[in-house]
Amino acid sequence: MIIYKAKDYQDMSRKAANIISAQVIMKPNCVLGLATGSSPIGTYEQLVEWYNKGDLDFSKVTSINLDEYKGLGPDNEQSYRYFMDTHLFNHVNINKSRTFVPDGLAQDTEKACAEYNQIIAQAGGIDLQLLGLGSNGHIGFNEPGAVFEQETHCVDLTESTIEANKRFFSRIEDVPRQAYSMGIKSIMQAKKILVIVSGESKANALKQALHGPITPALPASILQLHNDVTFVADEAAMSLL
Ligand code: GLP
Repeated sequence: MIIYKAKDYQDMSRKAANIISAQVIMKPNCVLGLATGSSPIGTYEQLVEWYNKGDLDFSKVTSINLDEYKGLGPDNEQSYRYFMDTHLFNHVNINKSRTFVPDGLAQDTEKACAEYNQIIAQAGGIDLQLLGLGSNGHIGFNEPGAVFEQETHCVDLTESTIEANKRFFSRIEDVPRQAYSMGIKSIMQAKKILVIVSGESKANALKQALHGPITPALPASILQLHNDVTFVADEAAMSLL
């Protein structure tokens, strides 16, 4: 495990973008596992900036996102598909037909999960998986629980996640109660994992993830078992280490 200490959010974003850029340059047809939330916004901005300078080519890249709110379609500004389009995909030369996000509007939950597992398998697995960290230790929408969910599944979001994510919605009642998430096995099968963590609100989750027991009660703790994981965390997030 490699842990890079970043000064602040901007520094974390630049370091993370450097790691993703290296992946895209070394393997132009790589499969990127991508994340949403506040954590990766700066990373995507940096990638777009370098793309505009001519330093990056996404034309052969495939992307597979971690999660999506159940019930939100691509036109909903709070959906993760909309997030990815507006923060990254619309600004670089990625082939949109090779960008995958779970279908939040799928009626048949089981079928939707099975299809997403198929997509991951057909892509040949993930070369680099980008992860944010929930303040309760979740990764993707793998919430704390009794077991590590292996593959794509539909999750009941915890109250703490609904509370944390309500800032993006006008009313807390608008925050979806369920989401589709890639499972822990799929995440752990990625060749490389890059976790970005910023802010004091993540400090305890980061400490537990790195040094606590490996338990589904803190899903990110499983990352201790991956053989190529890099954390980039800012000073505030590292304040309890
Ligand atoms: C959200 C997302 C995760 C994200 C995490 C942290 O609920 N489902 O994929 O990594 O929680 O979010 P943020 O980066 O906004 O703190």
